[in-house]
Amino acid sequence: MSTSVSKPITDAIGSTTGSGAPAASDRNSLTVGANGPILLHDVHFLEQMAHFNRERVPERSPHAKGSGAFGVLQVTEDVSEYTKAALFQKGASTEMLVRFSTVAGEQGSPDTWRDVRGYAMKFYTCEGNYDIVGNNTPIFFLRDPIKFPHFIRSQKRLPDSGLRSNQMQWAFWTLNPETAHQVTYVMGRRGLPRSWRHMNGYGSHTYLWVNAGGEKFWVKYHFHTEQGLEFFTNAEAAALAGEDADFHRRDLFEAIARGEHPSWRVSVQVMPYADAPDYRFNPFDLTKVWPHADYPLIPVGTYTLTHNPDNFFAQIEQAAFSPGNTVPGIGLSPDKMLLGRAFAYNDAQRNRIGTNFHQLPVNRPHVDGQLNTYLFDGQMAYEHSGSAAVYAPNSTGRPWSDTIGPAEDGWEADGEMIRSAYTLHSEDDDFGQAGTLVRHVWDDAQRVAAVDQIADSLRDGVHGEVLDRALEFWKDIDADLGARVERAVRKGVAAQPAAGMGQA
Ligand code: HEM
Repeated sequence: MSTSVSKPITDAIGSTTGSGAPAASDRNSLTVGANGPILLHDVHFLEQMAHFNRERVPERSPHAKGSGAFGVLQVTEDVSEYTKAALFQKGASTEMLVRFSTVAGEQGSPDTWRDVRGYAMKFYTCEGNYDIVGNNTPIFFLRDPIKFPHFIRSQKRLPDSGLRSNQMQWAFWTLNPETAHQVTYVMGRRGLPRSWRHMNGYGSHTYLWVNAGGEKFWVKYHFHTEQGLEFFTNAEAAALAGEDADFHRRDLFEAIARGEHPSWRVSVQVMPYADAPDYRFNPFDLTKVWPHADYPLIPVGTYTLTHNPDNFFAQIEQAAFSPGNTVPGIGLSPDKMLLGRAFAYNDAQRNRIGTNFHQLPVNRPHVDGQLNTYLFDGQMAYEHSGSAAVYAPNSTGRPWSDTIGPAEDGWEADGEMIRSAYTLHSEDDDFGQAGTLVRHVWDDAQRVAAVDQIADSLRDGVHGEVLDRALEFWKDIDADLGARVERAVRKGVAAQPAAGMGQA
């Protein structure tokens, strides 16, 4: 697959300069006498020094630490009644790239810090690239994208000391109670997956699917690990953070190199288009799941990771995912977070990688013969359209697009322009689903571990009104769990399961 341009080194007898001429020496620079000054015309030396100064590109902010692998999506079920997208037709086989990551840590940070894990997928479909850029949890901290930069800054480092701060994290979370559901996930087992192979992935947002007849559906994606879910304890994760900061990166690379190809079951929840206005939760609120009892999982197929990158920088660091990359048969939704993200990623990549990042082999769509973009010139332009007209419309025969009328993948907007939270549906609140997770999904052992984890985090530098708010936050999620957290924090006692936990 053409996701890298690797030049085999077959005939070289020494190294060359970037312009291909023989380089004199990689061991001794050119000087006037053995102890003399270095000469400015040692072009090879200067080229090495100057290029070295430019080896790094800005790391992703957020999701800087990660890695990935290539694979294939195989669709085994017929979901054509819901979407006409070519990649989801029964029998289709589509090359793909996945990149897993942590959110808050920097490039060199430990893989085993407690955090949400990023789960970014690029499908090189015959209709262009389709990206699903999700996480290992089905929901997120926020429901309005204007809060995102504030959120990320609060999870990273203090402006003065450059240290991470539980006080800052909890201050943000408790001042934005819509974070309750995701914070509950992060404080639970999903915050410490044993490996990327042993975690699920989710598209998290609600997307639109459109079938060949133009009928629309709302969907959520699920990727269930066939390796089984596995997690670390706090102690295991802390030990590994010191011993092997790259534990997850190494685990995936070595497993694939050994021929152990991890795979995931792909399924979707499908909501009829007309259900959205009256569903008990606002279906476009990213802090909410759709309980499976309401919308069961519909199987689609599986995907398998089959090979490692040949070159980490070219194929992983320079990989550019964007929720805005969709294909016919798939659209976005009124989820404000998703709409904000549709802009953010490609803009970040123009800055992080360069204006023509989409021309790099790892990002280039596999649609030879159909590619006809009017993106023109810019730094590092490599692919070009020769002498073809650079403007549209034109009368030279170069095709351009001219669809008018209602957008096939559109929806009806509410009307007047306002700034507001979503309309509340009958069961919408910030704490309800987080409480359901605690009471009805977790078992006693998970609840005990979570009390310990939350109390540990709150005892580590969280104080004053932030601590008071954090204790209220947990009581709002679950009165019993909250009381146990408070006892553990105030008295420093170990968490004991309370009678009746799970029945509340
Ligand atoms: C409005 C909210 C958000 C904004 C503005 C935002 C912005 C960004 C930006 C700028 C990057 C770096 C992209 C790059 O440099 O290539 C990024 C990475 C990422 N984001 Fe978001 N993000 C948002 C919400 C989310 C949500 C809700 C999810 C998951 C459901 C998510 C998952 C990811 C993942 C997985 C990556 C890493 C992609 C990769 O592996 O290259 N983000 N985000």
